[in-house]
Amino acid sequence: MSEFTFPDNFLWGTSTAGHQVEGQNLNSESWVLEHLPETIYAEPSGDACDHYHRYPEDIAMLADLGFNSYRFSIEWARIEPVEGEFSLAALDHYRRMLACCHENGISPMVTFHHFISPAWLMRDAGWLSSKTPDRYARYIEKASAHLGDLIGTACTFNEPNIAVVLSKMLPFSIQKTPFWNKAADAFGVAPDRLGLWQFAADPAMWDIIYQTHLKARDILHAGPGSYPVGLTLAMMDIHTAEGGESTAAQFRRELSDNYLERLTDDDFVGVQTYSRMVVGPDGLVHPPEGAEITQMHEEFYPEAIEGTVRYASSVAGVPVYVTENGLPMEDDSRRVEYFKRAVPGVARCMQDGIDVRGYFCWSLMDNFEWISGYGPKFGIVAVDRKTLKRTPKPSASVLGGIARANRVEW
Ligand code: BGC
Repeated sequence: MSEFTFPDNFLWGTSTAGHQVEGQNLNSESWVLEHLPETIYAEPSGDACDHYHRYPEDIAMLADLGFNSYRFSIEWARIEPVEGEFSLAALDHYRRMLACCHENGISPMVTFHHFISPAWLMRDAGWLSSKTPDRYARYIEKASAHLGDLIGTACTFNEPNIAVVLSKMLPFSIQKTPFWNKAADAFGVAPDRLGLWQFAADPAMWDIIYQTHLKARDILHAGPGSYPVGLTLAMMDIHTAEGGESTAAQFRRELSDNYLERLTDDDFVGVQTYSRMVVGPDGLVHPPEGAEITQMHEEFYPEAIEGTVRYASSVAGVPVYVTENGLPMEDDSRRVEYFKRAVPGVARCMQDGIDVRGYFCWSLMDNFEWISGYGPKFGIVAVDRKTLKRTPKPSASVLGGIARANRVEW
């Protein structure tokens, strides 16, 4: 048997994102998309988990479970619902949330942008517009001035590579659906100027986002507060099937290297991994017959996180936080098994000298899984969709137990 004790300041947390848990994010671009008659969303986000009002009980619950950190996002669409009009009430709300974390002994990791932007940004080409870096910088100035002294760790962005990853994984092209043209109409832009973070796999987008990231990083570094700043990436553990060497190398370049190579001056990179991807000469190879498949149509493969942490660290050369790792399955006993195999993978990376600073599972609770609606269950806490009552699952005590012990055996 092997065992590993984590450093005293290691962060053990759960992750959520505002739009997926808060509810009624009325001024967001997603709210518009979810309500289009031609929507590709299985259902609208609605009240989500009403975390916007129930955060005190949720934060207390995660502390009780044994965690010492919480990664959540603040919503730009609430803070700046109309261009140039900032809401003090929304900023104060997030300040109360941060204070609540501290009162519960929880170090807050704040994501300033988790996929979602205000609807007004999309009316001017969103993440394809050269005006967006300055607009985002103005939002970051306000948020940093109001919240910075209470922040523990900051992510400027969540997964700038998600659109490219989805373009490889989805069996259809979103740009070719009637939804795309209707969405462009809804925001009054041409279809090729629909700069949606999650779906516009346009190579120009990463340059704009990267410039924006640098501006935001500088603003956050200037204080108030002093904390590490980075961004997170969607990372698949890319394996090679026979004859697939050059295609797999191409996948690694497009999905990971193009991003990681630019992060060498960041304080950290956030690695977010759920499964592996097997690549043959013609692209993705389906999981082998009999493989266990998750609710997101991926292979049950907890070892993936070890592969991606090693990969991210070797290319970016900066400290790593595992900012998302988890399993979408109804059967929570599979999630227990997943964590029992994934966490040792992180420990092995650290035994080999890789600087990993924290592990955050996705997700604290079952929530709005974007176009899949409330179907996939990622939570270590169940949420009753009728009453919104929270019930911790066995996986919550297993992972919380590892967190509390700060030690894992395998
Ligand atoms: C995102 C989350 C999402 C999760 C599971 C990540 O790509 O950051 O918002 O819910 O994966 O699909």
